[in-house]
Amino acid sequence: MYRCDSLPEVTLKWAQTLDGQLADDNNQSQWISGLEERRYTHQLRSNHQAILVGAQTFLKDQCQLTVRDIGYDGPQPARIIIDPRGRIAQALRQHPHLIIDLHSGPRRTYLLTDILEDTEDIENMFDPEKLIRINYRFNDFNQWLKGSLRQLSRTFEITEHRRLLHLMVEGGPATLSEFLKAGLAHRLEIAISPLILGGQRHRVYTDFLLHNVDRFEIESKEQLGVDILLRYRIPPATPTKQAATI
Ligand SMILES: NC(=O)c1ccc[n+]([C@@H]2O[C@H](COP(=O)([O-])OP(=O)(O)OC[C@H]3O[C@@H](n4cnc5c(N)ncnc54)[C@H](OP(=O)(O)O)[C@@H]3O)[C@@H](O)[C@H]2O)c1
Repeated sequence: MYRCDSLPEVTLKWAQTLDGQLADDNNQSQWISGLEERRYTHQLRSNHQAILVGAQTFLKDQCQLTVRDIGYDGPQPARIIIDPRGRIAQALRQHPHLIIDLHSGPRRTYLLTDILEDTEDIENMFDPEKLIRINYRFNDFNQWLKGSLRQLSRTFEITEHRRLLHLMVEGGPATLSEFLKAGLAHRLEIAISPLILGGQRHRVYTDFLLHNVDRFEIESKEQLGVDILLRYRIPPATPTKQAATI
């Protein structure tokens, strides 16, 4: 199964090497793709109301997720960080400079996290309206993700005075994989960079089997500098395929 409806339209966007790595194994890499492709990413962000990353990506890259360097002066997308196990809360205590990052600039940051105990200090650090807490019960990440996105959509409408129609997920690989596995993604934009890194970590991973999945529908392909950008639409799950996964 690939997707379910009644949630924002989700585009998964990432850059990978020819051998499918989104980062090198020692976690030192920052940019996989070249300048033109990165400029395009900013363009793509401007078409989305919110950009989401996983906690590990935020903590490693401290990514702003704003639209910049392309002469854009429209509304900035909100920044969404998912953090079911409370990594950000821990990190904010240890590295208070991250708090400045969370509050600075034109962006609004929403944190999707668990109902953690002993978080009074975090609540004071964070805009409570943008702290979305869903119980991460039974280690069921799929259910947690869906519940969190539903709550985010409701909250977003109240705080931003507009609907969250288009959400872009920019990584890392664990987060992208979970969106695919949960059937929450509608489109893929994948930049292939002319590199082979080797390694095994930082890859998009699902446990699908060939007879249970539909092929993605290619929308377009384009060369951006040294990189090739592939755009795909993810077909809605058909009843046959859904039944096959039960
Ligand atoms: N090439 C690209 O396009 C690109 C884009 C973005 C990031 N990156 C790179 O990707 C790396 C980080 O990616 P990452 O995959 O390590 O992490 P990530 O996707 O940034 O963060 C994953 C988050 O989701 C949680 N999570 C994921 N699966 C889970 C599960 N089954 N159960 C519970 N929680 C789950 C993780 O919890 P825990 O923290 O508790 O595990 C963590 O909070 C960095 O090196 C970054 O530079 C590359």
